Amino acid sequence: AGALALWALMGYLAGSIPFGILVARMMGLGDLRRIGSGNIGATNVLRTGNKTAAAATLLLDAAKGAAVVLFVRAVAAEDAVQVAGAAAFLGHCFPVWLRFKGGKGVATFLGILIAYHWPLGLIACAIWLAMAFALRISSLSALVAAAASPLVALLVGRPGAIALCLVLAILIFARHRANIERLLAGTESRIGR
Ligand code: G3P
Repeated sequence: AGALALWALMGYLAGSIPFGILVARMMGLGDLRRIGSGNIGATNVLRTGNKTAAAATLLLDAAKGAAVVLFVRAVAAEDAVQVAGAAAFLGHCFPVWLRFKGGKGVATFLGILIAYHWPLGLIACAIWLAMAFALRISSLSALVAAAASPLVALLVGRPGAIALCLVLAILIFARHRANIERLLAGTESRIGR
């Protein structure tokens, strides 16, 4: 249990790096928390109009989740991989550096899944992208991809990932509460507007 806690702490710390804030600051876009939805993710970076910064945020937030899974898998057992992956997700959502006011976890979730089992991750990404292109609403696309992920895990023959997907999907829904309210009210913002 001591080792598991250590992997969880490592995952949390890696996940808690707020790349959106760092990228926006380094590219001179200002404080991301004062822009658009105030969220620290790629979708909100895109609201600055800077696509390169948004893409960089998406990739880096995904990469930190993937890096945790790949690193822990190389040195520890399967339960540690899942615990560290989930901890990275929690680090992104509740970073100590931002007084625990972090992001919504979508990019990190996708990075974790790609590294955990690439067919599962790629299908989740494909669902997210297809929904984003069709509906042009980032939050709804993320909710659909997250909700589908436990079923996708089953379909690609990775039932061991169902619980992880389920837990992360529930957390993603919880983090999108304000988005869900806006979706229901028909006022959620669209990509590119
Ligand atoms: O990745 C978060 C996205 O699903 C919603 O972001 O800024 O529209 O609340 P935002």
